[in-house]
Amino acid sequence: MILDGKKLSKNILNNISLEIKTLKNKPCLAVILVGDDYASSVYVNKKIKTCNEVDIKSIDYKLDKNYKEEDLLKLIDELNSNDEVNGILVQLPLPVHIDTKKIIKKISAKKDVDGFSPTNLGLLLSNDTPYFYPATPLGIMMLLEHYNIEVKAKNICIINDSIIVGRPLAAMLLNKGASVSICHKLTKNLKDYTLNADIIISATGVLHLLDDSFFNENAIAIDVGICKKENNKLISGDINYEKVANKIKAISPVPGGVGPMTIAALMFNTLKSYKEKNND
Ligand code: GUN
Repeated sequence: MILDGKKLSKNILNNISLEIKTLKNKPCLAVILVGDDYASSVYVNKKIKTCNEVDIKSIDYKLDKNYKEEDLLKLIDELNSNDEVNGILVQLPLPVHIDTKKIIKKISAKKDVDGFSPTNLGLLLSNDTPYFYPATPLGIMMLLEHYNIEVKAKNICIINDSIIVGRPLAAMLLNKGASVSICHKLTKNLKDYTLNADIIISATGVLHLLDDSFFNENAIAIDVGICKKENNKLISGDINYEKVANKIKAISPVPGGVGPMTIAALMFNTLKSYKEKNND
């Protein structure tokens, strides 16, 4: 079975767009990109384009790679106190001269539609309700739920330990009763984990890291990897789809799997933020 994130995200975005038509004002998302990292530019442009499609107003800041940390902190302060702005997104990774943790801490938890702030991650980890769940994990959870894939009491292997994917996703799954292993660069014998897992979620960015020898026949694979091919196109994932797709129970493709779900989840969070602030 193919877990079709493209189709599901279209339905979600369609519902979001219909709901926005009923509101007094448009929700508003500030999108900040510092520097010219190729992949980040692609993601940010997709986010801005989708905002336009669902009628979320985006305020775009495409800042020079030498933009100063103190200026970025000031900008976030202004956006925190700007009543029109419902969500603030700072695209990661930031250039190395900027302290990412300091920047994320500065974003008001109620506008942190990425869900990366210590308040939101802390609430999530303590099995409380954060203002926002991070977009990629939320998109994955929506995809699993849509296809009625139960996570309770399942063995789930996540290959990623970042705050963008692995850590919040592990907490979300744990909160629903899954047994979760987080694997990363230093993990020995990765197959010991993947072969034992009911669900494998991989986000390494290593092209075709996983072939069919990593999965049992009942496995469900979620591919969060986006890898550059020679022509610089972002089109392939961590999993060798050709070799794996017919040998396991279900797989999310790249493209058309988690990528569009992440964007749909971000739009969902931005609308949620608007609704929580305004009572219309
Ligand atoms: N970089 C890769 N994924 C993400 C994301 O979901 N949000 C932000 N802010 N940066 C990212």
